[in-house]
Amino acid sequence: MTQNTSGNKMWGGRFAQGPDAIMEEINASIDFDKKLARQDIEGSKAHAAMLVHCSILTPEDGEKITKGLDTILLEIEKGDFQFSRSLEDIHMNVEARLRDLIGEAAGRLHTARSRNDQVATDFKLWVRDTLDTLSEQLADLQKAFVQLAEKNHDVVMPGFTHLQTAQPVTFGHHMLAYVEMLGRDRGRFQDARKRLNECPLGSAALAGTPFPIDRMMTARALGFDGPTANSLDGVSDRDFALEALGAAAICSVHLSRFAEELVIWCSAQFGFVSLSDAFSTGSSIMPQKRNPDAAELVRAKAGRIIGALNALLIVMKGLPLAYSKDMQEDKEQTFDALENLSLVLAAMTGMVGDLTPNIARLKEAAGHGFSTATDLADWLVRSLDMPFRNAHHVTGALVALAEEKKCGLEDLSLAAMQAVEPRIHDGIFDVLSVEKSVASRKAYGGTAPENVLEQVKRWKSLLDE
Ligand code: ARG
Repeated sequence: MTQNTSGNKMWGGRFAQGPDAIMEEINASIDFDKKLARQDIEGSKAHAAMLVHCSILTPEDGEKITKGLDTILLEIEKGDFQFSRSLEDIHMNVEARLRDLIGEAAGRLHTARSRNDQVATDFKLWVRDTLDTLSEQLADLQKAFVQLAEKNHDVVMPGFTHLQTAQPVTFGHHMLAYVEMLGRDRGRFQDARKRLNECPLGSAALAGTPFPIDRMMTARALGFDGPTANSLDGVSDRDFALEALGAAAICSVHLSRFAEELVIWCSAQFGFVSLSDAFSTGSSIMPQKRNPDAAELVRAKAGRIIGALNALLIVMKGLPLAYSKDMQEDKEQTFDALENLSLVLAAMTGMVGDLTPNIARLKEAAGHGFSTATDLADWLVRSLDMPFRNAHHVTGALVALAEEKKCGLEDLSLAAMQAVEPRIHDGIFDVLSVEKSVASRKAYGGTAPENVLEQVKRWKSLLDE
């Protein structure tokens, strides 16, 4: 077996030998947690300033540390930093480099903290930043949907249940359904952020610290509402990441449902919408093809994001308090899932801005399948005072008649309808068109074009805030 000859210089005091190469391979997290460099340095600077403030560190050492940390951040940003696997993770890579730069004083930075509270803090900061970005991206996507809804507030299309034509709806109403879903998604991200916003720094390894530190000071410096109240909890829970992933998973499901609709709607069989060249791809063999690949990928990424939530739930479920190394497995999948959600949101915003509804085709399809049958039944109730059950029955008979004559409900003659129900009069023709059907659904939450415009107005003002 290959042995690494030098022990870890950060904790190697009681070790005579370095780790096996495989040990290093499984143990090191630097390949992925270098993503936390900025947060790690921000946390260290806040910690150092607090140690000085509490007279645990001299101002001279504090200044050396701060300057050193700034230099390291620059090196990392420029790509000049040498990350080392033998130093395991971002925390020890930064501290080791600090020692190269400023010597002895670097060793005082780790007073009154541990990598356990350090990593919990860094990771929280990363998740918090990402939640903020995702919330903004969600608002952008909502705006794109609202625009499309406004433009097509009175375009009729078939509404489906069981993917069978059910009742006509407006295209705008359909788009606004997603604005509602995304609004709740944004609410979940914002809620998660509120609960996340307590600072673990100063919990130290697990039991807190005997040094007279000021946890409120570091919490504030890092933009937290306050410190976590229990050191064991502070270092060993990852519910903030689980919550973020849970919200991301639900959001990805919403996006996947719309992606699925796009895939169906773009097909030749439906032809409801088209995507421009910018959001379509061709086939390497079939020259006629235009494929909605971006929508398909949005649909597929939901699997990956839901997978990350599952993975972290399973990592956490068996862990006794406090920290276990299992928890190092929290990062890769959370990074991957939330970054992919960000990509998916951008792609979806692009597609929504790009898509063109085929108005003629939507209208034609809206009338298929006796989609105004419920309007007919409602008319019988309202105009003839028929109990709804009877009206349902009479309508069923009229649908059967139209089916037999291979025509639409609006094409049946008054005489033919009166043969089924003698009290029917020509007022019935007022409700059999798809336009009249949608226009009549004015009760709050219904599909009428005027409702769509009202909701567009409401969302515009909400999204402008
Ligand atoms: N790289 C570690 C992680 O991501 C940092 C914390 C290590 N703590 C420890 N006690 N070994 O979880």
